[in-house]
Amino acid sequence: MNRLENKVAVITGGNSGIGFATAKLFIAEGAKVIITGRRQDAVDKAVEELGDQAAGIVSDTGSMQDINKLRAQVAAIHPSIDILFLNAGVAKFIAIETADEAIFDEQFNINVKGSYFTIQQLLPLMKDGSSIVLNTSINAHIGMPNAAIYAASKAAQLTLIRNLSAELLGRKIRVNAVSPGPVSTPLYDKFGMSEEQRSATASNILSQIPIGRFGTTDEIAKIVLFFASDDSSYLLGAELIADGGMATL
Ligand SMILES: NC(=O)c1ccc[n+]([C@@H]2O[C@H](COP(=O)([O-])OP(=O)(O)OC[C@H]3O[C@@H](n4cnc5c(N)ncnc54)[C@H](OP(=O)(O)O)[C@@H]3O)[C@@H](O)[C@H]2O)c1
Repeated sequence: MNRLENKVAVITGGNSGIGFATAKLFIAEGAKVIITGRRQDAVDKAVEELGDQAAGIVSDTGSMQDINKLRAQVAAIHPSIDILFLNAGVAKFIAIETADEAIFDEQFNINVKGSYFTIQQLLPLMKDGSSIVLNTSINAHIGMPNAAIYAASKAAQLTLIRNLSAELLGRKIRVNAVSPGPVSTPLYDKFGMSEEQRSATASNILSQIPIGRFGTTDEIAKIVLFFASDDSSYLLGAELIADGGMATL
């Protein structure tokens, strides 16, 4: 399949989970891909696995210093880009009684501020008619204990699709979002929970998914491909919820 032939894509947080699966699929569809990540070893390993159509940049989406360097780093690899997938994100579930400013700022810095300013910095490299896709979350739509900060950050991210689609209309840049329900990725290992808490949370989440299983990274990657390709050429400010029926049934 060659749905992304001659296209260049940047995927933030591309060394793992949904970002990595999307990088693999984009390359299989003919694209050249630049992944970012915050750990050199993880980025190097991912690029090695992705092969010679991939390049990696170590860049922390939570750092304005790194974001401000990203345009030059990308341009040194490819002079222009066609697709930007804002996927880097963190989820820290915590009760309101114990949450502090640091855990709030971390999620908003990476998920919201990082997405917004990454778009700002890479826009000059984006061709007219490019596609921007945000990885938001079902948590922007549902209530779940201990998820308030993460959910608020994802809801804020979601507002970017309509506002930036409107703002970038003159350049025909489309901004859309995929909002996954629970997907099996290393994200859950990074919640900061004990093994026991993690397994209880996973069982609790599973009981709320009508289709009876977590989603796979490949299932989400196919939706990102749809938004990234011309197949979705009439979609702006659109969100596709992929949640096994969690919020919709
Ligand atoms: N898995 C789910 O159930 C689910 C559901 C809804 C939405 N999402 C969203 O999907 C996106 C991808 O998550 P995932 O599930 O694929 O988890 P993941 O495997 O942990 O992937 C997240 C990626 O983002 C990177 N990242 C995190 N903070 C970063 C930063 N400050 N700078 C650069 N890269 C950073 C991670 O790097 P490290 O390897 O260094 O951590 C990792 O490569 C996130 O935005 C998440 O909110 C996931």
